[in-house]
Amino acid sequence: MPVSNYQLVTAWKQVLTLSKLEPGQTVTILTGAATHPQTLECALIATQEMGAIVNRLDLPPVNGEKAHSRDSLAYLGTTPLTGNPAAIAALTASDLVLDLMTLLFSPEQHAILSTGTKILLAVEPPEVLVRLVPTEADRTRVKTAAARIDKSREMHITSAAGTDLRCKLGEFPVISEYGFVDEPGRWDHWPSGFALTFPDEGGSNGSIVIDKGDILLPQKRYCSERIVLTVENGYATKIEGGIDAELLNDYMAAFNDPESFAISHIGWGLQSRARWSTLGLYDREATIGMDARAFEGNFLFSLGPNNEAGGSRTTTCHIDIPLRKCTVRLDGEDVVREGKVLDQ
Ligand SMILES: [Fe+2]
Repeated sequence: MPVSNYQLVTAWKQVLTLSKLEPGQTVTILTGAATHPQTLECALIATQEMGAIVNRLDLPPVNGEKAHSRDSLAYLGTTPLTGNPAAIAALTASDLVLDLMTLLFSPEQHAILSTGTKILLAVEPPEVLVRLVPTEADRTRVKTAAARIDKSREMHITSAAGTDLRCKLGEFPVISEYGFVDEPGRWDHWPSGFALTFPDEGGSNGSIVIDKGDILLPQKRYCSERIVLTVENGYATKIEGGIDAELLNDYMAAFNDPESFAISHIGWGLQSRARWSTLGLYDREATIGMDARAFEGNFLFSLGPNNEAGGSRTTTCHIDIPLRKCTVRLDGEDVVREGKVLDQ
């Protein structure tokens, strides 16, 4: 069901207030062919009402002919900012960029952030933004989990379905996604609510069982049968199962890149207002699946790049897979037990 402009403006103002937007600061709203018109309209109203100097930068799409899905996270690498210094200059000169287009995993995004500009991604449909509008409590919970990861040297994930994966930690930073940008140079995604890191290069071993009902993104489907991933020295070396495994293998083979099979980010969901079941209620092109990524107690892992955390892997393939009912241990201590978050 739709939300009113009043509701979405109010949500934007909550996010912008948490992001410490001050009168006189410059906000640039980055838009593209898939930007939701209501999200843009309400962002324009909220930013002006808060006294910001507001620009809009609309850029043409790229990679559509290469991607096999319309999902904005399905094909990474070049963005409309690649080789576009004029656009980069406009964003760098802004205090805050509202990314209604999707710049994720691009070197240009890193360059802009390094100047102190904040970037907030918001591409989910308006009613999802309103339902999952972030709070200060979300930040506290995610930061607490991130601090636990930060002091740990191993994440061990198990499940009754058969997952038994060990990941060495420490090489890459921990990332907190709580839905707003309250520090200079910070990137975040509204909506979210999870903590993550990346395993040490080559430091993941074991097996991952994607169980019936677990979700594949960008496929945006619930698995109908188990998929078993054998993980050796940081890579999924075998992906076995029935039709769901065949579909995943065929999708990944199209990228023709062995780096696609690397274990990328690992972490768990902390957002109690996000739900596992929501994805089944949406057309695939209407959502990027943030409920699936953030629902409380999932173990979210990814196959693909690690350049978002400073690594050198820039493969264009990116699969996010939230698993239910896992136990996550940090240095032998449970932080999620059979899909239930154990808050400290
Ligand atoms: Fe991901």
